[in-house]
Amino acid sequence: MEQPSGITFEAFTMDAYDAVFGLWTACEGVGLSDADSRPNIERFLLRNPGMSFVARDGEVIIGAILAGHDGRRGYLHHLAVHPEYRRRGIGHLLFETALDALRAAGIKKCHGFVFRDNVRGLDFWRAVGWTVREDVRLISKDL
Ligand SMILES: CC(C)(COP(=O)(O)OP(=O)(O)OC[C@H]1O[C@@H](n2cnc3c(N)ncnc32)[C@H](O)[C@@H]1OP(=O)(O)O)[C@@H](O)C(=O)NCCC(=O)NCCS
Repeated sequence: MEQPSGITFEAFTMDAYDAVFGLWTACEGVGLSDADSRPNIERFLLRNPGMSFVARDGEVIIGAILAGHDGRRGYLHHLAVHPEYRRRGIGHLLFETALDALRAAGIKKCHGFVFRDNVRGLDFWRAVGWTVREDVRLISKDL
């Protein structure tokens, strides 16, 4: 896939946390919670090294994705691209880069979570070849 000009992709490290959190906050469709606090994201990155990525225009972070696995399936979270940088292939490249890391770890299938009312987000995932599952409901419980 061709790299959008001037945009660089690199591993998500905690140096980028504040900028990424700001980006997520500014992007519709990204649901944030205590799971996204600095210590929890640090723990996620430590458990899943080299699988989450950011996109930069110079020093400015304009895209991000969290990716990891539990040993059997991969999971993507919080793919976001700054509104001024959309429709340039950056979202697609971010998740493909994460999928390459999951493939290298032997993971054969990956899931993601999208709010039911995030119509544009769902259109994106369909357009890039993902299946929107109608046969599964997410179940959750506070521990
Ligand atoms: C979803 C999102 C990450 C897409 O990022 P992006 O960099 O604009 O996506 P790309 O440029 O890689 O798009 C690839 C293809 O997906 C499709 N696509 C992208 N955005 C779309 C939209 N809003 N509606 C329909 N199709 C879309 C297109 O087919 C596009 O190819 P094209 O531009 O050649 O037509 C971005 O819109 C975003 O950050 N949205 C808010 C957060 C969000 O909803 N994240 C996903 C759920 S967690």
